[in-house]
Amino acid sequence: MNIRVFRTPSDAGIYAASILERVVTSKERPVLGLATGGTVIPLYEAFVNLVRCGLDVSHVTTLNLDEYIGLAPDHPQSYRAFMNEHLFSKVGIPAESTHLPNGIASDLAAECERYNAVIRKNPIDIQILGIGVNGHIGFNEPSHTLITGTHVVNLSAETIKMNARFFQNEEEVPRQAITMGVQSILQAKQIILLAFGEHKAEIIREALKDGIRTDVPASILQLHKDVTVILDEQSASHL
Ligand code: GLP
Repeated sequence: MNIRVFRTPSDAGIYAASILERVVTSKERPVLGLATGGTVIPLYEAFVNLVRCGLDVSHVTTLNLDEYIGLAPDHPQSYRAFMNEHLFSKVGIPAESTHLPNGIASDLAAECERYNAVIRKNPIDIQILGIGVNGHIGFNEPSHTLITGTHVVNLSAETIKMNARFFQNEEEVPRQAITMGVQSILQAKQIILLAFGEHKAEIIREALKDGIRTDVPASILQLHKDVTVILDEQSASHL
């Protein structure tokens, strides 16, 4: 694993955006695997700046990791709304080329299959990941088993508590989500994992330095041959 430590999340975001730029300019039909959460905002800000300076993204396809079940795309806390706000509304990726699971699909099993087919049709060139304080990637939560393909997941109490900051209160946080599975993540040709802040320091150490454990889902990234871990000084402080 290539580990890079920056002074600030903003510096780290600029570096991560430059890696994305390389993928976007070197492929005929680049496919970006995208993530949500506070961590990825500096990356999207830097990427939007690159687009404002002339980077063409009209040929880009995007696939997001996950979506809350029960939130319509126009719900302000849906991940579709997050992506619209922080990226899609600011760059010229054609709307039909941006994919997320549908959190209000009436048949969730069919929706998981549909999303697996979208992933198969659009092999991911680079997958962006944040990490939960419990080690989740996407919404692959700590468990005895990790699931390979897209699936419905019950969110852990810790994740519900952590993500409550984006809602009015904890009761409003959906209890379930649809997430890409770990095999889909590992099949990306390249992976960038970002983590910032002291509260991520211990889980980053566990994910990178201990063995592979299903109760630390991010540790499975140790199996991938092209992972860049982008940290600030705080999140790197336990390495
Ligand atoms: C959510 C997302 C994850 C993300 C995590 C960390 O639960 N499903 O993909 O990595 O939060 O969020 P943050 O970056 O806000 O710490």
